[in-house]
Amino acid sequence: MLARACSLTGRTLVANAFHAPECGSVEYLPGIAITVDADGLIERLSRDIPDDAVRLPEGQYLLPGLVDLHVHAPQFPQLGSALDAPLEDWLQTYTFPLEAKYSDTGFACETYDALIDHMLRCGTTTALHFATIHLPATRILADICIEKGQRALIGKVAMDHPDTCPEYYRDPDADTAITQTRALIDYINAHPHNGAGRVLPVITPRFVPACTDACLHGLGQLAAETGTRVQTHVSESDWEHAHVRARTGMSDTEALDHFGLLREHTVLAHANFLSAADMDLIALRDSGVAHCPWSNIYFANAVFPLREALARGLRVGLGTDISGGPIGTIWEAARMSVAASRLLESGTDPDRAPHLRGRAGARVSIETAFHLATRGGAKALGLNVGAFVPGMRFDAIAIDPAAPAGQIVSIGDTPPLQMLEKIIYGATKANVASVWTDGVLRVSPAP
Ligand code: GUN
Ligand code: FE
Repeated sequence: MLARACSLTGRTLVANAFHAPECGSVEYLPGIAITVDADGLIERLSRDIPDDAVRLPEGQYLLPGLVDLHVHAPQFPQLGSALDAPLEDWLQTYTFPLEAKYSDTGFACETYDALIDHMLRCGTTTALHFATIHLPATRILADICIEKGQRALIGKVAMDHPDTCPEYYRDPDADTAITQTRALIDYINAHPHNGAGRVLPVITPRFVPACTDACLHGLGQLAAETGTRVQTHVSESDWEHAHVRARTGMSDTEALDHFGLLREHTVLAHANFLSAADMDLIALRDSGVAHCPWSNIYFANAVFPLREALARGLRVGLGTDISGGPIGTIWEAARMSVAASRLLESGTDPDRAPHLRGRAGARVSIETAFHLATRGGAKALGLNVGAFVPGMRFDAIAIDPAAPAGQIVSIGDTPPLQMLEKIIYGATKANVASVWTDGVLRVSPAP
């Protein structure tokens, strides 16, 4: 039987599968039989194939679903545009006016619906979303993720600082930001259709510059009280990094820790200007980093030292940063993470001597990028997905490298690991044939 249009709960799937449970290496599992239980958990992996097994169509490969560790869901209409200004101007000129429009729940419904369809069709089975300051629209995003089956962590954005946030788009005060964050946590946790907790709330101070001390402190207390995860931005650009130092006398990382926001599974977006001590503090707290290599080109003023962060034991995953990054797929983030690391290693200014141009040993491999795009992101979030291991949830995608509308070139016999390389460098939405979360089919192949 083929896997076309087929949910896998209570069944066994036979596939040629790739996964990267550990950073830096890939396992190829040819003809593996993966049994999924009635709740969508992987029960066992075996070479014994039951008679009623479902088979992936010939030529397709099974991969773990992709994890996007940094998405601004409301910025989807702006994807692929408005990247001509530095971060602090981009926020005021383009982004805050767009996000303010989500006071209209009809607009929220329409865009969030299109975003989640797009992400699932690209193979993104897990996403960590910033929403807006609006509680009703943020509830709608949670409803849509629950309905469509994306594993998602969703935050009402908290931003109450009158010096950095415009009057038309900010929480009126710290109390409101905190109370409404609590209301979203209660809404998602008590949602009648969210039984398995596939959608989770996340405490979301936008970044230190946008929040008052009272707001940051209150959100830190709320995280400790409820055990809810935290996400924010850290040390993204020269401006942000310097702004926090000038205001608090601390590094951005130290300030977040001071307010109780660096916790297990806190995800920090960008993190480009971390000192060695900042990295050690993040690792100590079991927080992680969302590396957004596309967005960093436009806003960061530097390349994130990914190899160094991994060597220091940081948990790292990949983010599109829709719409700070112009392309909304983790395929693009994965290949750009490799390319950016190569630019950091070689350096970029041809007028400099080769030995002064770059940072030796900065490159990462395509295998590392694959890990970050799957299990790495899941580990940062503390989620039981991202690899084909008994006890993990079955979130997976079927890739058809030969899809006619795709751009992967494979002529003659391509050995498996070369095929994976081609998939990471070339896959687009066109190659994603099927998508499952919790063993349930969420995207089926075009007829
Ligand atoms: N820092 C604060 N807000 C934002 C945002 O919306 N995008 C990015 N890239 N950085 C931010
Ligand atoms: Fe961001």
